Amino acid sequence: MKITFLGHAGFVLESGDEAVAIDPFLTGNPVATCGPDAIRCGTIVLTHGHADHMGDTIAIAKANDAMVIAAFEICEYVGSKGVANVNPGNPGGRIETGFGSVALTQAIHSSSFEGGYMGMPCGAVVEMGGQRFYHCGDTALFSDMKLIGEIYRPDVAAIPIGDRFTMGPELGTRAAEMIAPRVAIPIHYKTWPLLAQSAEGFAPSGVEVREMAPGETWQMS
Ligand code: NI
Ligand code: MN
Repeated sequence: MKITFLGHAGFVLESGDEAVAIDPFLTGNPVATCGPDAIRCGTIVLTHGHADHMGDTIAIAKANDAMVIAAFEICEYVGSKGVANVNPGNPGGRIETGFGSVALTQAIHSSSFEGGYMGMPCGAVVEMGGQRFYHCGDTALFSDMKLIGEIYRPDVAAIPIGDRFTMGPELGTRAAEMIAPRVAIPIHYKTWPLLAQSAEGFAPSGVEVREMAPGETWQMS
C-alpha cells in the first residue's frame, strides 16, 4: 500500500490500479499542497460529515465517477447533490469492495454538515492489497480501540492528536498502544491555531510513529 497524506485528516491510499481517498479536504485547507483536481481515485471514504472531512468529496466524486462509502445519511446527502455512486454503511459493518473492504468503526464525536444531521461519526478500516489502514476519524479515546486492534490487526493507524475536538497527544498515545498497529500516523493537528501545534507527547511504546508532511507519500512495505 502506498500512503499519501493530504494534510489535516486526509489521505489517498493506492495499491495496484486502485486508489481510495479518505476525508479529502483540500479547498480551504491551509496546509494542503494540491487542489481537488489533482486527486485520482475510484473510491472516497468519509469518516463523518464535518466540513474539514467532507471537504471536496462531491467535486472529486463527480470528476472521477468515484464511489462514496460513508454513513447512510452522508450517502443520502451527497446523492441528493448528484453523486451517482454511493455505498452506505454504519459503525460495526463491513463493506466488500473491488479492492478489498471498508469496515466502519465506532468514533465518539458528532457529525453534521451545513446544519444537517449526517449520521453517526465513524472510523474506517480500509483493506487493500492485503494490508489494513485504520483511520480513527475524529474521536475521543475509548477502550474498544483495543478490540478494534485485535479484530482488524491494522498495519497502520491514523490517530487524531490535535486536542479540543479529538484526543490530544497523551490520549492519542493511549489509543495507539491499545490499537497496537505497526505504525501510527498522527493527524488532525497543526492545521489551525486552535489545534495542538506539534506531535511532541505522542509517543506510544511499541509502535513506530511516522509524522507525515502534507503531500508526502510513503510506500509501506
Ligand atoms: Ni469532526
Ligand atoms: Mn475534524
